[in-house]
Amino acid sequence: MTMLPFTRPAIGEEELQAVREVLESGWITTGPKSLALEQALADYVGGGVQVRLFNSATSALEASLLVAGIGPGDEVIVPAISFVATANVVLRVGARPVFVDVDLRSRNLDAAAVAAAVTPQTRAVIPVHFAGLAVDMEPLYALAEKHDLLVLEDAAQAIGSEYQERKVGASGNPVCFSFHPNKNMTTIEGGAVASNDADFLDRLEQVRFHGMDKDSEGNIDIVAWGGKMNLPDVNAAVGLAQLARLDGFNRRRRELVQQYFQRLSASDVLVLPVDAAGHSWHMFCVCIDHNALGKTRAGILSLFNEHGIAVGTHYPAIHLFSLYRQFGYGVGDFPVAERIGEQTLTLPLFPAMTEADVEQVCATVTAIVSGRL
Ligand SMILES: Cc1ncc(COP(=O)(O)O)c(C=O)c1O
Repeated sequence: MTMLPFTRPAIGEEELQAVREVLESGWITTGPKSLALEQALADYVGGGVQVRLFNSATSALEASLLVAGIGPGDEVIVPAISFVATANVVLRVGARPVFVDVDLRSRNLDAAAVAAAVTPQTRAVIPVHFAGLAVDMEPLYALAEKHDLLVLEDAAQAIGSEYQERKVGASGNPVCFSFHPNKNMTTIEGGAVASNDADFLDRLEQVRFHGMDKDSEGNIDIVAWGGKMNLPDVNAAVGLAQLARLDGFNRRRRELVQQYFQRLSASDVLVLPVDAAGHSWHMFCVCIDHNALGKTRAGILSLFNEHGIAVGTHYPAIHLFSLYRQFGYGVGDFPVAERIGEQTLTLPLFPAMTEADVEQVCATVTAIVSGRL
């Protein structure tokens, strides 16, 4: 039996040719292809922003926090449901992550939850556009302005998404993207920051590469601490080929998702995600209440596997990881995040999937939630 994976990168002749060209060019690390991808991403996102590439979204988020001067004694508000990198980067710069609960269907945080978590130590909030669904940013901007907070958008899952008919990334805030292989476009590993603040962008470049500054005559100076977070041109070349195909990929994702919605019915046992204009559908995540069905989640995962379907579990609630329990967090703090963490399943979704694949997944979901399996 061949397994249907929950995701698969769309690599074609364009990417293979692009990699070959760079490898044969004699310049394979950061160079002209990276510059070209930064410009292409800035043009794609719009809003007059500029883009700086990183070797991951984790690096992009960490560098953004460092440049913003966030560190020991500061608190940063993050959602309790995200990939753990969203919180880890806060710890990395010496600040304290403060978690808030999320909505069951959108999995996004909202301004009311953030407002309740603000203290005199709060310096920033990191909204995560979960699975490609934009957070409702307007009330968050108002709150951030009131309390003088940095809004650092974690758009790792949201390349191509829109908020109020503008691309996520065009806000002018620092906005971080991921190009990990699971994402809607990939550079194998890689990330980026979009911003409209020239000084912030200059300082990001320094943090990205050894704290180095160059004058117009090419003399170098080391002006700040910097790491090694640059993206090689081989990866950037893959990104250029992928970006050219991104809108097509996202269109296909939306078509497949419409089929999921047509074939699945929400119930007490099955929670379906929010549909919205501008969603780029990085993932299609549902919750299945395995307790109500008299099953364990491991049992549910096995049923999918037995039917040739691999499903993901994005994500466990971050505050319940051992590292974060050390900050005093525990079971019961964020009930919605905890329910998602226990019951979430990521159904297969990637551009090369067929309608028959969706049908097979939906037949299995329906059989499970109706107790037939
Ligand atoms: C919400 C979120 N933030 C950050 C990251 C980190 O991205 P990267 O793997 O590029 O470091 C991911 C990756 O899955 C993510 O989903």
